[in-house]
Amino acid sequence: MGRLDNKVAIITGAAKGIGLSCAQRFVNEGARVIGTDVDEETGRENISKLGDNAIFIRHDVSKEEEWKKVFAEAEKRFGKVDILVNNAGILEFNNAEKIDGDMWHKILSVDLDGVMWGVKQAIPAMKKMVVQSSIFLQSQV
Ligand SMILES: NC(=O)c1ccc[n+]([C@@H]2O[C@H](COP(=O)([O-])OP(=O)(O)OC[C@H]3O[C@@H](n4cnc5c(N)ncnc54)[C@H](O)[C@@H]3O)[C@@H](O)[C@H]2O)c1
Repeated sequence: MGRLDNKVAIITGAAKGIGLSCAQRFVNEGARVIGTDVDEETGRENISKLGDNAIFIRHDVSKEEEWKKVFAEAEKRFGKVDILVNNAGILEFNNAEKIDGDMWHKILSVDLDGVMWGVKQAIPAMKKMVVQSSIFLQSQV
């Protein structure tokens, strides 16, 4: 029995690196995984190697509308979302005296906005599951 049996997880930045490793580990532990990334080619290739319990969705975490589509697709395919791994991020080493506004706002839009839009969609999705579980438990007693 896996530690994540029956769990459904959205993992962002899953085309490679830490996100892909999380996706692999989650599938090995029994989860169904929606791996997302802006890098569609690498994401599709790597996530497809994880088997039928993982799907890839092209997703830019900085765009709130795209988050809505990811959660809608996850619920359509797997019925619920239990876990969100807000992993996608960009790291730019720069000089505070020289950084330009476009770069600064790009970092903020991925590393801050991206996390918030994910949390904003995850909370109602997870609340819905708590209500469903509680109705199920009530119907069992
Ligand atoms: N590796 C480290 O030592 C380290 C240290 C501290 C923090 N982190 C953070 O951990 C996370 C993963 O690190 P990693 O080393 O695997 O990085 P990585 O660069 O290998 O992978 C990050 C993934 O995020 C994706 N991504 C970038 N912008 C995106 C966007 N707008 N929407 C969706 N996906 C996007 C990239 O395409 C990439 O596949 C990052 O947030 C990184 O900043 C990493």
